[in-house]
Amino acid sequence: MEIVHLTDEHKQLYFCCLEDWSEEATKEAGLRRELWYEKMKARGLRVLLAKDDGGEIGGMIQYVPIEHSVVDGKDLYFIYCIWVHGHRQGRGNFQKRGMGKALLQAAENDARELGAKGMAAWGILLPFWMKASWFRKQGYIKADRDGMAVLLWKLFADSAQPPRWFKRKRKPQTTPGKVTVTAFVNGWCMGQNLAYERAKRAAAELGDRVLFREIDTFERDVLTEWGHADALFIDRKQVRTGPPPSYEKIRRLISKRVRRL
Ligand SMILES: CC(C)(COP(=O)(O)OP(=O)(O)OC[C@H]1O[C@@H](n2cnc3c(N)ncnc32)[C@H](O)[C@@H]1OP(=O)(O)O)[C@@H](O)C(=O)NCCC(=O)NCCS
Repeated sequence: MEIVHLTDEHKQLYFCCLEDWSEEATKEAGLRRELWYEKMKARGLRVLLAKDDGGEIGGMIQYVPIEHSVVDGKDLYFIYCIWVHGHRQGRGNFQKRGMGKALLQAAENDARELGAKGMAAWGILLPFWMKASWFRKQGYIKADRDGMAVLLWKLFADSAQPPRWFKRKRKPQTTPGKVTVTAFVNGWCMGQNLAYERAKRAAAELGDRVLFREIDTFERDVLTEWGHADALFIDRKQVRTGPPPSYEKIRRLISKRVRRL
């Protein structure tokens, strides 16, 4: 196995999170991830890929100076996500063969060389998706918690300060006589971009009684103003977007609200 930096050859694969077999990932999620990548490169984004012995890409990790990430912190690097392809479709299941561990180790070495005082990551307490327990097993400790979402970190220097979640500050406004669908979207996550695209499409198809509002949280001041990087609200009620709900589900939830107007 080999860990390599992202090059032009594998960019399209990275934009769809290695899921080149999936229409959702390659088409429905749109181009936002690609646009995000182009802007974030200038802010120090790093992407590593894991290649198996046959040269097949099976895993990826993306991390950035925490000052440009979706969490609060200083002098650390923040891991947006690590993903070892685990689906049977497409390139197949590469999990539990050491790729995850190798990617994390390589990212930590890279961050140390870049002068970081530590590495931060997020995970959830439930036993699926990006699990906090996996990072704990790799030597990470808890720094902050927001419901099921945990921020973890590993110190490289004693003077490092722990990362923090931004506090949720405001709920979106509603509009009299209409249903307001508010989508916060950052761009880093293909799954969240998918939820955003579905909500936008459903809102448009439901006509004049639905108002769609996009809040692009790429810039830090917008992110800190609201405290949400990616989130979906139908009026003031938040809809869970991890994993992304189907188009049908989002449309059903908005329609239900329209009927109550
Ligand atoms: C977590 C993940 C990165 C681990 O990568 P991997 O290549 O499967 O793991 P590795 O083979 O490197 O295993 C490293 C260690 O983790 C353990 N491990 C791997 N998968 C595990 C699992 N599902 N549960 C618990 N432990 C696990 C291994 O046993 C190994 O332990 P060891 O160090 O004691 O030997 C990978 O399973 C993954 O991508 N999961 C989904 C993560 C996700 O949802 N990402 C967000 C996408 S948006």
